[in-house]
Amino acid sequence: MSVAKQNTNKKVTVHTLGNMALKGEKIAMVTAYDYSMAKLVDESDIDVILVGDSAANVMAGYETTLPITLEEMIYHAASVVRGVNRALVTVDLPFGTYQGNSKMALSSAIRIMKETAANAIKLEGGQEILESVNRILSAGIPVMGHLGLTPQSINKFGTYSVRATQESEQKRLIEDALALEEAGCFAVVLEKIPALLAKEISEKLTIPTIGIGAGKYTDGQVLVLHDMLGITQDFSPRFLRRYMSLGEQIRSAVKQYSSDVKSGGFPNENEQY
Ligand code: KIV
Repeated sequence: MSVAKQNTNKKVTVHTLGNMALKGEKIAMVTAYDYSMAKLVDESDIDVILVGDSAANVMAGYETTLPITLEEMIYHAASVVRGVNRALVTVDLPFGTYQGNSKMALSSAIRIMKETAANAIKLEGGQEILESVNRILSAGIPVMGHLGLTPQSINKFGTYSVRATQESEQKRLIEDALALEEAGCFAVVLEKIPALLAKEISEKLTIPTIGIGAGKYTDGQVLVLHDMLGITQDFSPRFLRRYMSLGEQIRSAVKQYSSDVKSGGFPNENEQY
């Protein structure tokens, strides 16, 4: 049976994504952190733009996602929203703004929604953050879950290697995914887990699953924009497909510009007033 395609000009909502998953239409999600990139991405048939806390790595140069603040996420998210017409914009709640305190979680989520005009928030974790998830949902804010490798817990895991390879962790992950769905999350990101586990979870859930390093059976995929464009070059996990070598192109363009300036070749007669 052929799959009907969504109207590409209509604003994507959480309901659009649910319907896409029900129809077997894959969801494409990518990160963005600034106005110019968000505008280009939004013009490129993307369903969801994630203002990820990976901004801590790719925009600010931190080793982990832990240092980024709520204010910094708000700055990135508001910039992205100004460049977007169609895609659903989801924003990560940064580390320390929702864990263990559901009132703080709600106030963090409200700040994001009020000060950025984004469409949804994402947070990492399962049953241990359910109280925060419930409180945010009760305010009418759509929540995307994030399970498997959750980078905000890197100090607990110790490494960024594949999660849930053992049966006990797989069982817990399935329970967490079901708990997030039951709470009312509109989608769940599954990061770096075995493909067959992601398949099982995707079959058990009615809400969409969005994978990163979780194989081909999820309802959608997400990548970090700077990784897929080859701007970041020292990060090459198996799941990452690079669609460009933009890093090389930027270096070569800037080198050429520098050489033109130094040789007096730029600007020429037509490039002056
Ligand atoms: O912060 C981020 O970019 C993310 C994706 C890797 C899913 O959470």
